Amino acid sequence: MSVPGHAIARAARVLAEGGLVAMPTETVYGLAADALNPEAVAKIFALKGRPADHPLIVHVAPEARLAEWAAEIPEGAHRLVAAFWPGPLTLVLAKTARVPAIVTGGQDTVGLRCPSHPVALALLREFAQVGSGAIAAPSANRFGHVSPTTARHVHDEFGAGLLVLDGGACEVGLESTIVDYSRGEAVLLRPGAVTREAIARVIGAAPRERDAGAPRASGTLAAHYAPRTPLVLAETAALAAKIGESMGAGMRVAVLARRSACVSGTAGWREAPPDAPGFAHDLYANLRALDANNADLIVVEMPPAGPAWEAVRDRLSRAAAGAGDDET
Ligand code: TXA
Ligand code: MG
Repeated sequence: MSVPGHAIARAARVLAEGGLVAMPTETVYGLAADALNPEAVAKIFALKGRPADHPLIVHVAPEARLAEWAAEIPEGAHRLVAAFWPGPLTLVLAKTARVPAIVTGGQDTVGLRCPSHPVALALLREFAQVGSGAIAAPSANRFGHVSPTTARHVHDEFGAGLLVLDGGACEVGLESTIVDYSRGEAVLLRPGAVTREAIARVIGAAPRERDAGAPRASGTLAAHYAPRTPLVLAETAALAAKIGESMGAGMRVAVLARRSACVSGTAGWREAPPDAPGFAHDLYANLRALDANNADLIVVEMPPAGPAWEAVRDRLSRAAAGAGDDET
């Protein structure tokens, strides 16, 4: 889906004047503000209901000079940029003095990402002409909710008062991979479409697991990315039994599985694609649709093991931990 030039120009003007707009990226829709304008960034936290100590990702165009935002860029980080930007990878690096404290939640590091969605790129380039060119943008959902992957989802979260650039359904459908390179070595903070294998091939070693010293990241809380309806995961072999048992207990049950309905009488059944990219692409739209069934329980067939499914498994286990709890 293309967005006309005048709409991009208007959105860039809103950003330059300190306002918010929603922009499509290849991962999820973002709630965008001028990263160098603390009052504008404060509006993001207010609208999302997000705690002030949860840092935002700063989005930049491919032409941006990374050294303006990152004080130290290890060799491995340079390689990841060369391999995966523009694309679904965020790097956490030591920040420069330009990056306002409100953007980083008071931390001395900044998350940087160059998205590949053509509308995001057009907006970043236009905003580089009329403003700072740096866009702070968390996912365009209320804190703890499922991320939006269509313009309609953003509208459902925030209503008609917010300018939304409609770039169609997001290609990836899950938030970017986050790699912390602020302490010399690569640490995987959040799995995503750029897999740990792909990262290892580029930097020559597998990224480390996050530990107690890793920077805080709200998308890494156990309870996050949750629908309102309680959600449980069931192994494929136990799926029909879990559904039957819950319905037998008087519950209205909605289901997400990699096959068509195999139990009758459910309150909703979404058939997910059998491959990891397809499953990820549809996941948040499926969770939103199942949430709208007003069921008592969402049962999700456990995705397969294996590296390609890591990001999907990560989001589903967080959704299971946080479902039914808006205050994560
Ligand atoms: O794909 C994405 O990353 C989307 C699109 C819009 O770019 N954005 C996104 O933003 O998912 P958000 O705010 O929903 O999640 C960003 C994650 C949060 O978990 C945040 O804590 C973490 O990135 N993060 C940002 N800056 C950080 C930093 N300096 N150190 C550690 N984590 C950081
Ligand atoms: Mg988010």
